[in-house]
Amino acid sequence: MVLYNKTMKTIFSGLKPTGEMTIGNYIGAMKHWPSSQADSRSIFFVPNSHALTVRQDPAQLKTRTLDLVAWLLAVGVDPDESIILVQSMVPAHAELFWILDNFVTIGELSRMTQFKDKSGKSSAEGQLAGLFNYPVLMAADILLYSTDEVPVGEDQIQHVELTRDIATRFNNIYGETFVIPKATTPQHGSRVRGLDDPRYKMSKSDHPDSYVALGEDAESVIKKFKRAVTDSDDKIRYDPKSKPAISNLIEIYAGFAEVDIATVESKYQQKGYGEFKQELGELVADKLSVLQAQFEKYRSNETALMAIIEQGNAKASQIANEKLNEVKSKIGLL
Ligand code: TRP
Repeated sequence: MVLYNKTMKTIFSGLKPTGEMTIGNYIGAMKHWPSSQADSRSIFFVPNSHALTVRQDPAQLKTRTLDLVAWLLAVGVDPDESIILVQSMVPAHAELFWILDNFVTIGELSRMTQFKDKSGKSSAEGQLAGLFNYPVLMAADILLYSTDEVPVGEDQIQHVELTRDIATRFNNIYGETFVIPKATTPQHGSRVRGLDDPRYKMSKSDHPDSYVALGEDAESVIKKFKRAVTDSDDKIRYDPKSKPAISNLIEIYAGFAEVDIATVESKYQQKGYGEFKQELGELVADKLSVLQAQFEKYRSNETALMAIIEQGNAKASQIANEKLNEVKSKIGLL
């Protein structure tokens, strides 16, 4: 792969190591990552420093960080074609964060919906400053690599918009420095909903019946789909507004079978929910068992896994430090 080439598009994204990876993370994000490797500079990272906004168990944070790298490899991210890095191991992220924190206002950060949601109804006073500044570290992540596209879920689009504002502001004062990134979302699957309640995004922090983890065994996967809520009539029709539950299951089916929504609808036109959910469970369980075997292969050799991470960090640092030095020299930091 080419480390730096302005004519080649740069794609950058990451997943936080704050819980088990779910099938929502898979069809909304990870599954799409290997396909960008061939024709773009692809950089995937584990934003482990971002996890600190919620108090973490140290051993678990470390384990989950390594798990996530192994999942990336398992889904087909190739460390020779892409760059895989761990955020805390490339200090340029933290350094640029501090600089950019001076190019964003308290007002802008207060308007981030994720901050408003997470800080809840109580006043912002008692919240950690890290939660408030979270989007600025994310801006640093993205801008260090001259990123063109950031594939993310819907809930992160606002953060990428803020990144654009920060970059534009900096460029206006100091001249062309940052590439202005764009958020991209997959056509389907960017918003996989909970199996027990389609009003909410599938999340590993909810009730276990609401999600399927990538590491789950076949029996449990099939059982969860059997129990998944459905809508009132027995028709397998995609209509997220009036049939949110079944539409969610159709999206999951399409994502795992690599077919489009219409194909799923026509395949199950004459069939009922019971049969559909059974077959969906089997489909997901089969695919997961293949991924799990790959995961085990990478995860069981921690020395080899660390070597892959070190190799990625080294390539990433080269790109990131060059950008950081450009920024520092423009603003007068020695
Ligand atoms: N904020 C993202 C999330 O919660 C994770 C993240 C951190 C990220 N930095 C990023 C995603 C940079 C894309 C690009 O999912």
